[in-house]
Amino acid sequence: MGTAGLKLRYYGDPILRRRAEEITVFDPPLRGVADAMVETMREAEGVGLAAPQVGIERRLLVALDMRTPDDDGAAPIAMVNPEITERSRETWVFEEGCLSIPGIRGDVTRPSQVKVRYRDVDGREHTIDAEGMFARILQHEIDHLDGKLFIDYLSLAEKTLIKTRLKKLAHSHDDQ
Ligand code: CO
Repeated sequence: MGTAGLKLRYYGDPILRRRAEEITVFDPPLRGVADAMVETMREAEGVGLAAPQVGIERRLLVALDMRTPDDDGAAPIAMVNPEITERSRETWVFEEGCLSIPGIRGDVTRPSQVKVRYRDVDGREHTIDAEGMFARILQHEIDHLDGKLFIDYLSLAEKTLIKTRLKKLAHSHDDQ
């Protein structure tokens, strides 16, 4: 899990469609990868980033922890092997985007609240309740670990509308 020069992967890259593997070793390099991902997320002005998006097929994500926003904005949080253990029946719609699918946005319906179990980079287990935007970000990023993208949730009409742009996007990164 090298950290040198994390590079964003874009739509069309097969890594974004594969299931990432569980992490079993909690060592300093893991913390290094998480820190580098936070850096990459910030540079890209994102609110969340999953390891496959930077070419690492492991179940790791970073996100802005919006439960306790302060003056400097939310602090980043890293989650290893995150799992949604409960979902609210109540849902809400929001127009999502993705760092791996630049320029494309679409309405996605998701549960308003989720309970997430995960380990921190030191291997300690936590369970948190997330709601609102934070819950949405976690669901979006955990989807990435299963090879799922927000565009998968769009209506057929919306999918048809973005089809050409998606195709272009996939080809524009072909030679990377
Ligand atoms: Co994304």
